[in-house]
Amino acid sequence: MSTETGIPGLSKLEWLECSNCSAAFDARQLIGLCDRCGGVLLARYRLDEASRTLSPATIRNRNPNLWRYAEVLPGSDDPVSLGEGMTPLLRAGFLAEDLGLPHLYIKDESRNPTGSFKARGMTTAVTMARQLGARRVALPSAGNAGGAAAAYAAAAGLGVDLFLPIETPEPFRLEAVVHGARVHLLEGDIAECGAYMRTLDEDWWDLSTLREPYRLEGKKTMGYELAEQFGWDLPEVVIYPTGGGTGLVGMWKAFEEMEQLELISPGRRPRMVVVQAEGCAPIVRAFDEDKPKARAWEDPVTYASGLRVPAAIGDRLILRAVRESGGTALAVSDAQMAEEQLVMSRTEGIFAAPEGGATLAAARRLVESGFIRPEDRVVLFNTGTGLKYPDIPGLKVP
Ligand SMILES: Cc1ncc(COP(=O)(O)O)c(C=O)c1O
Ligand SMILES: [Zn+2]
Repeated sequence: MSTETGIPGLSKLEWLECSNCSAAFDARQLIGLCDRCGGVLLARYRLDEASRTLSPATIRNRNPNLWRYAEVLPGSDDPVSLGEGMTPLLRAGFLAEDLGLPHLYIKDESRNPTGSFKARGMTTAVTMARQLGARRVALPSAGNAGGAAAAYAAAAGLGVDLFLPIETPEPFRLEAVVHGARVHLLEGDIAECGAYMRTLDEDWWDLSTLREPYRLEGKKTMGYELAEQFGWDLPEVVIYPTGGGTGLVGMWKAFEEMEQLELISPGRRPRMVVVQAEGCAPIVRAFDEDKPKARAWEDPVTYASGLRVPAAIGDRLILRAVRESGGTALAVSDAQMAEEQLVMSRTEGIFAAPEGGATLAAARRLVESGFIRPEDRVVLFNTGTGLKYPDIPGLKVP
């Protein structure tokens, strides 16, 4: 399945660095969080070596999937791949006119295997889990990550246990079961599902968001692709629906690496915009209160299940990226999200996820406030397909 994608010898993965205390760890072992301080671990590469073979010209001729950035990915000799990444960057013609933004784009992540950007994180995380000897993986999920983990585990020949909130829409549960996952439905939100999972003493590898270093590596390729698709000149604004935050933190890491690799010019990164749901907006609250970390949101409610994340382990990293970028954070209501989900779907022909609708609602507000200027190149991330959310508030299906 994966031989076509693998590029032997190209991965320049060197070590893992704690994002909190800077401790260094050997990457040739299954390791989750920093064992000194509990911090999130970040993969580090020999970028000077990588830059010898990773250039716009060499990349252009590689396969159209995210493993084209093999030097700066883990395990790229023998990946577990389903053809993820290189999703289209679409010009949003009707919306551009509607919002008065001639340079408005949608990065359509629904085109990934399993219908969401979560495939990116799972191709790298499952690749490394398999290479480092795991037999089973486990994670809590709001839906998309679980479906992706189930598919990639199936392709890798690994077992998988998923811990899902009981409200998780049926199509996600179906997908999990179809791919052979053991599904545990629990009362509570994703954080509670994860806490419960970690009380069980089972021999599985924990693939929870940012609790292992490699999902982030797959997700950062959204940043590499943006650069490549814009001719190595990044756009001015990126609007990203944020739950656990790996997408946003990953892109920020990609920008940093690309500056060191001299693929992009320094100081030309986008302003990163976090959008969350009004019923669950811990990062927005911390941003507004000028706090370095976010306290947990009580009673998270939103039909955008990917945004129903009351506490993100990467909260500091998310807030740091948003602030360093000169970005902002805002929350939108479920009603606005649903309305804009339909607007995006009806004007652009993309069956948007609620989370994609949230980015359009945010863009409209930021144009009104003047944060976005008409000349800005703006990218909305439609992070998944709307097909897996059967109930859209206010929509009657005949
Ligand atoms: C469709 C969708 N969008 C956005 C998110 C949030 O992603 P992140 O954890 O990268 O913030 C999720 C997470 O489940 C999701 O499924
Ligand atoms: Zn540490």
